[in-house]
Amino acid sequence: MPVKPLVFIPDSQLRLISKPVQGMDKDVRRLVDDMFATMYKAPGIGLAAIQIGEPLRVVTLDVSRRDDTQEPMTLINPEITWHSEELREMEEGCLSIPDYYASVERPDKVRLKYRDIDFKEHEIEADGVFATCIQHEIDHLNGILFIDHLSKLKRDRVMKKFTKLARQRDDEA
Ligand code: NI
Repeated sequence: MPVKPLVFIPDSQLRLISKPVQGMDKDVRRLVDDMFATMYKAPGIGLAAIQIGEPLRVVTLDVSRRDDTQEPMTLINPEITWHSEELREMEEGCLSIPDYYASVERPDKVRLKYRDIDFKEHEIEADGVFATCIQHEIDHLNGILFIDHLSKLKRDRVMKKFTKLARQRDDEA
């Protein structure tokens, strides 16, 4: 389960629309393993495949927030089939935008359809951190970042900072 390098903004890969998984095979299982290894190492509570450069509709999650137990969850081809009118504001961060946090308003509850690691279909309801995390990760599959939900002023400021950082990294390489 190798830890993969993360893709950071302003990398244009993060704007790709990821493709549905057609069925489980060795490659998709390996991708899921790599995603968990990378997510836990970061550490993060959610990761979309494109964040390690793979444009497939695969998400790994673990919102257990406990050190002694892990509750890994794999979402293949996740889809929101319903969301509440009620909104909830929560502070979000993203492994592709390190050390930056901001409050985002999203539907408080969602109904989610997805396939598990055995490609079996499920439909569940989610709220709280879980609902926020699901919406954040599904956004990634559609090339959307949480900073897109902020004001243009805030977003431009973050993009500028990370563009500068990327340039510094390139210069050092
Ligand atoms: Ni993210």
